[in-house]
Order: sequence, then structure tokens, then C-alpha cells
Amino acid sequence: MKKLSLLMIALLLLFAIVGCSSGAAEPAAPAEEAAPAEEAAPAEEAAPAEEAAAPKKMEDLVVGYAQIGAESEWRTANTASIQSTGEALGVDLRFSDAQQKQENQLSAIRSYIAEGVDVIGFSPVVETGWETVLQEAKDAGIPVIMVDRRADVPRDLYATYLGSDFVVEGEKAGNEMNNLLPEGGKIVELVGTVGSAPANDRYSGFRNTLNDNIEIIDSQSGDFTRAKGKEVMEAFLKKYGDEITGLYAHNDDMAIGAIQAIEEYGLKPGEDIKIVSIDAVRGAFEAMIAGKLNVTVECNPLLGPQFYDLALRAVNGEELPEWVPSEESVYYPDNAAELLPERQY
Ligand code: AHR
Repeated sequence: MKKLSLLMIALLLLFAIVGCSSGAAEPAAPAEEAAPAEEAAPAEEAAPAEEAAAPKKMEDLVVGYAQIGAESEWRTANTASIQSTGEALGVDLRFSDAQQKQENQLSAIRSYIAEGVDVIGFSPVVETGWETVLQEAKDAGIPVIMVDRRADVPRDLYATYLGSDFVVEGEKAGNEMNNLLPEGGKIVELVGTVGSAPANDRYSGFRNTLNDNIEIIDSQSGDFTRAKGKEVMEAFLKKYGDEITGLYAHNDDMAIGAIQAIEEYGLKPGEDIKIVSIDAVRGAFEAMIAGKLNVTVECNPLLGPQFYDLALRAVNGEELPEWVPSEESVYYPDNAAELLPERQY
């Protein structure tokens, strides 16, 4: 009997041990399950990351665009290209016109950052003063594309620059003036907006190629507008009269304003005063057909298609080149009438 009791106790103990050990195994099971679950956790985390990396489509894009203003025919064509291309592509475009004021462009860019747009495009009215705002865009993870004009900022603050080589444009203009005044002469210069990239570069490019026998007797800003171009040319004529044999205008609008001033003064633009300007807008073709403008060097404003292509690539994380130059030509009166109907701006 005693032996039987001992056996019973031994059996009970055995059950207890087996029971305990199977009880201990229970938490292990979830632990084992937890292990794959833990492994699964990164997989779950990876899933949203993959979703975030899924490439955006053009029609998903929200674009903030801080335009300079509407100072010239060129700018009007540039704005139309950005707006109409955006519409055709189904982009959500938020567009602002800064009326040629840097502070307006700065606050437009800050609003786009606050709105959380995908990408920002802007044409810096002047070259300096953009670092802080572009750093803010970078901190918010929003790529910035400089269009038409470049700002003087470190490379890491923008995705790319799409626009012209303004130095080359100035150099072409210098060569054209040399051809128009082979015996030399005295010329005046209508400079663009002070501190802007095209004004700075067209100023220096022109001097790179201008012959020594041509003297620049005066150089003043006409702010890229027709009205200012006329006003400054009137002042030049008052000061130098028919001493002036040539005019270099940093854009067609100022040249067109100056042509009016020259005619009102009683001289013949294009003959008494040879004129070279930049942009190749329709107004310049009309002036060439009328014999009042000698040469226009092209600066292409139709940047909309290239801008959105670059914007999408930047948003999708592609490394873009520092500069995407636009292709440009030079136009003369000889075939201006033939080309005018084809001009899109
Ligand atoms: O930045 C481009 C220049 O700006 C154009 O040549 C001029 O017409 C415009 O206003």
C-alpha cells in the first residue's frame, strides 16, 4: 500500500512536471511567433516606404511657381508657356506674379512651402538674397527649380537651373555690333534690371567680344521695360545727341521704347543709330521688318514643357544636372517677314 502511494505521488509529480514544462512552452510559442512577427515588422515598415517611393505622375504634381512679373513681351510669353503647359498636363499649378519685387517672390515661395507643394519653380528677379528661403524649402523636402534666371546660391539648394546662357547672348550681341559698326563708333547701352542675372551676364558678355574701336559712352538701366527704355534713351539723346551711332539694349522691349525716343528726337533708328537687342519677340520682328532694328539675339521663353519634365523628375528623386540650357538663335531683318508668322512669342 505504501508502495502504491509512493507510486501515485511519483506519478502525480511527473504529471506536475510535464504540466509545468508544457505550461512553460506556451509563452515560448508566442515568443517564437513574435520572432517572425518582429522580422515581419521591418517588412511592414518597408511597405509604406515602398509606397512613398512609388513614382508620381504628372497629373499628381502640385507645383508652386513664383514668377517675376509681366515686365516684357518675353515674360508674358514665358508665363503663358508655364500656365498653358501646366494646364495641358493636368498639373495643379499655384502661380504668383511678384510684380518685379523680390519680397513678393520670397513670400510666395514661403506660402508654397507652407502649403506643402511637391515642387517649386521660380525665376529669381535678382541674383542675391535667396539662401534662407531656399534652405527653408530644402528643410521641408521640396525641390526647387530655377527657371530662366539663376540665383547665386550653393548647388545643394536647388535641383536644377533651366535657362539661357546670358553671357553667350551678350557675346553674340557684341559680335553683331562689331559687324554693324566695322569702322567703330560710340554706343549707349540699356541695361536690364539691376542685379539680375541677365543684366549682369549680358553686360559682361557684350564686353567680351566688342571691338576696341567701339566705345560705350553711357550705360544705364531701363529695367527691361518699354517705358523705362524710352525714358533712358531720351536722356541719352539729350546728353549726346547724334554723337550716338549704336544702341545695345539688353532686351527687345527697351529697344522698342528707345526706337520711339530716337524717332521723336528726329533720327532714324536702324540707320543713324544701329540697334542690337535680345529676346527675339514678335515686336522685334516687326521692328526689323520696318527697318528700325538691326539684330535680335534670341532668348527662348517657351520653357513650360522642359520645366514640368524636370519638375516631375526632381519630385521622383532623380539627380538633375546643374544646368539645362535652352537652345537659341540670332535673327536679322532679311528674313524677318518670312519668319514672323511662325514666331510663337
Ligand atoms: O530673364 C530674361 C529676361 O527677362 C528677358 O530677356 C527680358 O525681356 C525679361 O524681362
